[in-house]
Amino acid sequence: MSVDPYMRGRMNDSKSYVPPFELGKVLDGGAVGEVVESRASTLKPGDVVVSNFGWREYFVASPEQLQPVSPEIQPLSAYLGALGMTGMTAWAGLNLVEVKAGDVVFISGAAGAVGNVAGQLAKLRGCRVLGSAGSSEKVNFLRKQCGFDAAFDYKTGPILEQLKLAAPDGIDVYFDNVGGEALEAALSVLRLHGRIIACGGISLYNDEKPRPGPANLGNIIGKRLTMKGFIVSDFLDRRPQFVQEVGGYFKAGKLKNEETVVSGIEQAVPAFIGLFAGKNVGKMVVNLRSKPAA
Ligand SMILES: NC(=O)c1ccc[n+]([C@@H]2O[C@H](COP(=O)([O-])OP(=O)(O)OC[C@H]3O[C@@H](n4cnc5c(N)ncnc54)[C@H](OP(=O)(O)O)[C@@H]3O)[C@@H](O)[C@H]2O)c1
Repeated sequence: MSVDPYMRGRMNDSKSYVPPFELGKVLDGGAVGEVVESRASTLKPGDVVVSNFGWREYFVASPEQLQPVSPEIQPLSAYLGALGMTGMTAWAGLNLVEVKAGDVVFISGAAGAVGNVAGQLAKLRGCRVLGSAGSSEKVNFLRKQCGFDAAFDYKTGPILEQLKLAAPDGIDVYFDNVGGEALEAALSVLRLHGRIIACGGISLYNDEKPRPGPANLGNIIGKRLTMKGFIVSDFLDRRPQFVQEVGGYFKAGKLKNEETVVSGIEQAVPAFIGLFAGKNVGKMVVNLRSKPAA
């Protein structure tokens, strides 16, 4: 099963694009698993399906609530990462701001599930790709394994200074996963007609009071910037194109599915909380298999 930052928002009793979790009810979220018993003609034991029935080891569902996927893709958790919701977020976000060859793209939260795939896809499109992440291990992962042209640890100094060093001539696109200081720095270094894709703002999710916005929003006017927000679920009808393009890269060995796996449902809560402390490289997933794989 998947644990995701957006689940934090579901723990607030407020109106959003997804309803809050309810007290006394099982949580839900993305999961991939095997059918063990079936009364439906379209599914048989052993079939692999993606569902929204995470946070539990077994469940009963109707076929309409399940999406069959090929068992040939391994590990199956790739359907929660590069080939799943987070990979599709990276792909849809890049498309929305029309990322193209030659663009200089800066990605925050770059070593996470969305960020590392966004960076790899931008490289495949011929961009110069820069990333920020919260440790030297993650910076090395971005440079050495994901092909980023430059990466820095945002915890070691002001983001603006580090970004200016990585992009002395500015950036064309900012893929925002974290908000806050990173957004403010990006606003300062974006070039004329630059684009911001507002994907997430994890640095703000645990705030009890809203923080004042970036002090330099005026850059949007002077530099004629565009800032676009989106929610991946609005793009489900484009799944076939996503599967063809991103699935094709994965099968051809051009796209890596990095993940951090913890085992056992009792580890699901620490894994979720760990997202806010940077405990994951790539997609954070929880393996619910009761016995180790044979
Ligand atoms: N718009 C959509 O439809 C959509 C869909 C999926 C995800 N998202 C958003 O995309 C972002 C990334 O999601 P993900 O699933 O890929 O999660 P993720 O990046 O795999 O995991 C969260 C990462 O955020 C970083 N982080 C935590 N607290 C931070 C802070 N205070 N400041 C800066 N970075 C912090 C940590 O990495 P470090 O070690 O680098 O700090 C952590 O590993 C989130 O904001 C999420 O809400 C949006």
